[in-house]
Amino acid sequence: MPNANAELLKNVKQVFKDNQRSFEHFNYTVPSPDSYPYQWFWDSCFHAIILSHFDIKRAKAELRSLIKWQWSSGMMPHMIYWPNIKNTSFPKIQWGKRHTSSLIQPPLLAYATWRIFLKDNDRDFVREMLPHIHRLHGFLLRQRDPRRHCLIGLVHPDESGEDNSPRFDKALGLPPEQQLDENFRRRLKLIRNFRQGRFVVKRRMDKAHWVRDVPVNAILVEDLRCEARLAEAMDDLEGAAWALRHATCSRKAMRTYMLEDGIMWSTLGLDYKLIKVKTWAIFAPLMAELYTQEEAGHLVDNYLLNEKEFATRYPVPTVSVSEKSFDPTGFWRGPTWMATNWFIYQGLMRYGFSREADKIRTSSLELIKKSGFREQFHPMSGVGMGAHNFTWSGLVLDMMEDGEK
Ligand code: GLC
Repeated sequence: MPNANAELLKNVKQVFKDNQRSFEHFNYTVPSPDSYPYQWFWDSCFHAIILSHFDIKRAKAELRSLIKWQWSSGMMPHMIYWPNIKNTSFPKIQWGKRHTSSLIQPPLLAYATWRIFLKDNDRDFVREMLPHIHRLHGFLLRQRDPRRHCLIGLVHPDESGEDNSPRFDKALGLPPEQQLDENFRRRLKLIRNFRQGRFVVKRRMDKAHWVRDVPVNAILVEDLRCEARLAEAMDDLEGAAWALRHATCSRKAMRTYMLEDGIMWSTLGLDYKLIKVKTWAIFAPLMAELYTQEEAGHLVDNYLLNEKEFATRYPVPTVSVSEKSFDPTGFWRGPTWMATNWFIYQGLMRYGFSREADKIRTSSLELIKKSGFREQFHPMSGVGMGAHNFTWSGLVLDMMEDGEK
């Protein structure tokens, strides 16, 4: 590990030490000891990627603790309430399951497994993970895409990982300017409805397909490609072909249903109504190389580097400053988050925008140095907000390591 990163590494290790939890022989990491005392699905995938740089054994344990809770349908819940966690003030929602939620989060399991495999070539670990990855993807493609259009739908905003993002305002029946509480109430009401319907989300998918989200589908394309690579590494050529076929179909569908004037938009309802709210999501397809080089260049010049859109002092704000819904302290309605920066960074690198990627990497590191491992950051002042000692902010280490290569 290069010297420049030694201090960062020390601090990341400390966060992981503080946030490590165990139950029986399982080990996992909570997102933040005070604010998020349980285990979350995509957080743990990020954690595994970060851990792969300094504790490969624990990186694997992080993923093993997730697959333990996979449902027989293949579904992997977005929250796990480990039985030994008690006395927290975190609201425990009734999901119709004892120890888990009934919603999903963006599928990054194959991606995290692939990153671990790249580090130590442990075929036994891949052999252990692959069936779970395959069942998760199978579940998503079957249950969340009832008409087989190769686009998966979400039934709740929290499934995107961006709980109150303005991408879901219309679906929730809310105006762009709104109170955080009201948004939360609507999301709770949705969960209540599911509970009354015994969490048969397929019913809702059949009727409405609700929101097909750009980042979630882009992440699925990339995750399917990782499944294909992992299967190939196991000499399972049929499995690899299956995953690639679905990745190609999803890529095509995203371009068919979501692309307008060179930008991909999430869609609402059965008739794919475009949700034209400029959030960081317009950059998400870069990480799965879903745009052409020309489209990518247009996005970078006109949006990423445009001060009237996303080029704030501490980029990348989760919502464009030009949007009515932009709120620099509004959770997913404006603040800069490390995970979204990390996705955009990777996407830029894939298209050869290394100068622009480097800028994001450097300002991300600056944020951590200035404000610590906070959950989000004010995109203008860089002040830290939300949870403290927030584990996935360690993704900056992954960007730094990548940049040193
Ligand atoms: C918040 C975020 C979600 C994350 C969770 C735990 O709910 O919106 O993406 O998984 O916190 O960090």
